[in-house]
Amino acid sequence: MSNVSVHASKLSSIATSKTDIIVIPLFAGEDLSATASAVSKATGDVLQRAMDIGDASAKLGKVASMIGDTRIARVLAIGCGERSAFDLDAQLTVTGAIAKALAGSNVKAATVIAEVVSDDADQLERFLEFLSRDVVMSCYHYTATLGTPKSGPSLKKLSVAAGDMLPMTRAKKALTTGQSIGNGANLTRELVNLPGNVCTPSYLAKEGRALGRRFDTISVNVLDEKKMADLGMGSLLSVGHGSDEPSKLIVMKYAGGPAKQAPYCLVGKGITFDTGGISLKPPKGMESMKFDMGGAGSVFGVMQVVAELGLNVNVIGVVAAAENMPSGRATKPGDVVTSMSGKTIEILNTDAEGRLVLCDALTYVERFKPKEVVDIATLTGAIIMSLGYEASGLFANDDGLAEALGNAGTASGDEAWRLPINKRYDRQLNSKYADMQNIGTGTAGSITAACFLARFAEKYKWAHLDVAGTAFQSMQKGATGRPVPLLVEYLRQKSGR
Ligand code: BES
Ligand code: MN
Ligand code: ZN
Repeated sequence: MSNVSVHASKLSSIATSKTDIIVIPLFAGEDLSATASAVSKATGDVLQRAMDIGDASAKLGKVASMIGDTRIARVLAIGCGERSAFDLDAQLTVTGAIAKALAGSNVKAATVIAEVVSDDADQLERFLEFLSRDVVMSCYHYTATLGTPKSGPSLKKLSVAAGDMLPMTRAKKALTTGQSIGNGANLTRELVNLPGNVCTPSYLAKEGRALGRRFDTISVNVLDEKKMADLGMGSLLSVGHGSDEPSKLIVMKYAGGPAKQAPYCLVGKGITFDTGGISLKPPKGMESMKFDMGGAGSVFGVMQVVAELGLNVNVIGVVAAAENMPSGRATKPGDVVTSMSGKTIEILNTDAEGRLVLCDALTYVERFKPKEVVDIATLTGAIIMSLGYEASGLFANDDGLAEALGNAGTASGDEAWRLPINKRYDRQLNSKYADMQNIGTGTAGSITAACFLARFAEKYKWAHLDVAGTAFQSMQKGATGRPVPLLVEYLRQKSGR
């Protein structure tokens, strides 16, 4: 995990304090700011000379590292491009490049001169938030199951000078907000990166209870298989039948708004390992199916952030956790199960298990009379064909909700792109032996999966995020922490903070 502390500092203190590295943003065609030239002068004009010979430049995303002196050990120049083109994308390029450079160097303390980034307080505030989030995220590194832990990034302290444009209180708040989102995303990454033999449904339940202990505002209730059977969750339970690990339904309630206010519900797919079941997956790459609880992982991350920020809304996170294994007790192709809704499902492919756990969780949340429900799931390989690793798939039965989530994705740099759901796709799910089957005919697999879920979400405004391409990239690169930034942005909009 990362434990970077984040501070707002005054420009005036730069002239006197010691730091391992000072980061200076450069804009095309602009002179160095007063602070930047003071830094350059104090370090024997390294910055000016690096610019003169073309090592440092304003080219967007260009990073140049220079040796300074005893007080300012290093200077890092970061190109921001043309000021007129310094949009959200460019800002994220810059914060991402700074974060990567700081995590990749062996500095302990860094100071970023952010004052030149904008003379608009709102834009500067947002930049600070992104910067702090991205730095915290770039300092995450995985050690949980290493016998000999490798050392990670050495950065311990990030200071940011925003100048006079932004009142100190706002600068501080933006930095701690970004830090909280970064830490939430890192919690998600840690859970998603853990192997399937560690991160089981019971482990996730423990993680939920731990959140409940940490925050007065979060209460947690875990439903075991007996409870779920009593509720009639035959679909969810059918997925864990082949596993020795008991399935869990983890319910986390964050009370931040008035008690009477309808909650926002987040429902996460928590398949802690997906072998495919009797419809066994091929061995190549199967190890990556430890990531199949990415949706659930994001629910934990978001609950932590929402509680830390004290958002003024009620949020209920529900995680449907199970392990999908083949065995003598496993569900077989052709089996028919009865879901909590009473609808029967013919399971034609046991590898289409995510929708089977989610549908019962979606029925379960009806009892909360939710304002809106968003499920998050590494649901289909097909979404990677459609959107690659760039955007999450977004589906909804309500245009307003789809728009809110789409905008939250864009605003946080955690993009989601909407795909359709309608009758023409839905009819692929009709079955001779049950009210529906769990797979379509093979085309538009992400859409038919969403159509399946939509059948269980008719009683409220609902959206589904298919994060199979965005929650993790590869075994090497690991979990991304997405879509925590998107979901937090959406809930912040709702809470007006
Ligand atoms: N967990 C997988 C989806 C997945 C595949 C995520 C690849 C990330 C990378 C899901 O449970 C699954 O197996 N889906 C099947 C559905 C099919 C059987 C209709 C798929 O996508 O192949
Ligand atoms: Mn599967
Ligand atoms: Zn799966």
